[in-house]
Amino acid sequence: MAQTTLNAATPEKEQSAHGSTASEDRQAIAATLLQLDRELVGLAPVKQRIQDIAALLLVDKLRAERGLRTGAPSLHMSFTGNPGTGKTTVAMRMAQILHQLGYLRRGHLVAVTRDDLVGQYIGHTAPKTKEVLKKAMGGVLFIDEAYYLYRPENERDYGQESIEILLQVMENNRDDLVVIFAGYKDRMDRFFSSNPGMSSRVAHHIDFPDYAPEELEKIADIMLEGMQYRFDEPAQQAFSQYIVKRMQQPYFANARSVRNALERARLRHASRLMRDPDNVSDAALQTIGAQDIRASRVFTEVSSANPQAGSRHDQPADNRET
Ligand SMILES: Nc1ncnc2c1ncn2[C@@H]1O[C@H](COP(=O)(O)OP(=O)(O)OP(=O)(O)O)[C@@H](O)[C@H]1O
Ligand SMILES: [Mg+2]
Repeated sequence: MAQTTLNAATPEKEQSAHGSTASEDRQAIAATLLQLDRELVGLAPVKQRIQDIAALLLVDKLRAERGLRTGAPSLHMSFTGNPGTGKTTVAMRMAQILHQLGYLRRGHLVAVTRDDLVGQYIGHTAPKTKEVLKKAMGGVLFIDEAYYLYRPENERDYGQESIEILLQVMENNRDDLVVIFAGYKDRMDRFFSSNPGMSSRVAHHIDFPDYAPEELEKIADIMLEGMQYRFDEPAQQAFSQYIVKRMQQPYFANARSVRNALERARLRHASRLMRDPDNVSDAALQTIGAQDIRASRVFTEVSSANPQAGSRHDQPADNRET
């Protein structure tokens, strides 16, 4: 095969952090992506984008091996979607994958909100933001509800100072830090339109759709399997009905609500077994029954209108579902 251009690749680009070749990386990444696909239900567009990014980095590495020009692509992202749609989970996976590909030195995730970045008094914001950035270097900085950084109604808001420092670091250290902004879609859109500098530095806007009821059931199965529990047939049916009802009630939070529902079912299951503690079979220890689901308040409460979702920080946690 004829090689066309021969450009001097920068030495650190010739090998990944692990010194592996593009072909070794490709196999490792294929396994990771397969695992991601198995462990995370749905999210087809999200998975596709992760695959595309992995492909880009692999091709970059292959180019470096062949002496072609490479440049660290900008990988700052925004993850938008409703609560419990998997944003934090996927961000953690993304950090691992970028580490595996040699893009990130450490591959850890530092999750923060406005309060971690912005100070209360003059002079406090810069050191706070810089401290967080220092911790995140070599990994992913995940800024949840990022739009709270920007408060146009408050003229003297220190959030702006934090944004400016972030912008600078996102530009200058983009081969050593990936920033992911997360939150509700409409608010994030507004945030980006008021901060064009920020918007232009975010290369990937990824939207996390709400889950369909069947997807939530599958998510429950995966969670149960992970905990070595299972539904019996009537429990499975009860849970299908539970999901449909729960989705119409306030503070529904997708997969997070599923996790909470399962925690409550486990509590009821445990109390039920302890009513006759000397006769507990191995099967009973692992099997959630319909009664453990149907005792939920979700089945008795009349559904009220779903209030407009506000800040997750203002809301009671999703702990109403008993
Ligand atoms: N597609 C999925 N498949 C399996 N489990 C999932 C999926 N999406 C989310 N989960 C699980 O649901 C829970 C909530 O997910 P996660 O915290 O990532 O959501 P989030 O979008 O960050 O929510 P929030 O906006 O409230 O922070 C986690 O326990 C996660 O493991
Ligand atoms: Mg989250």
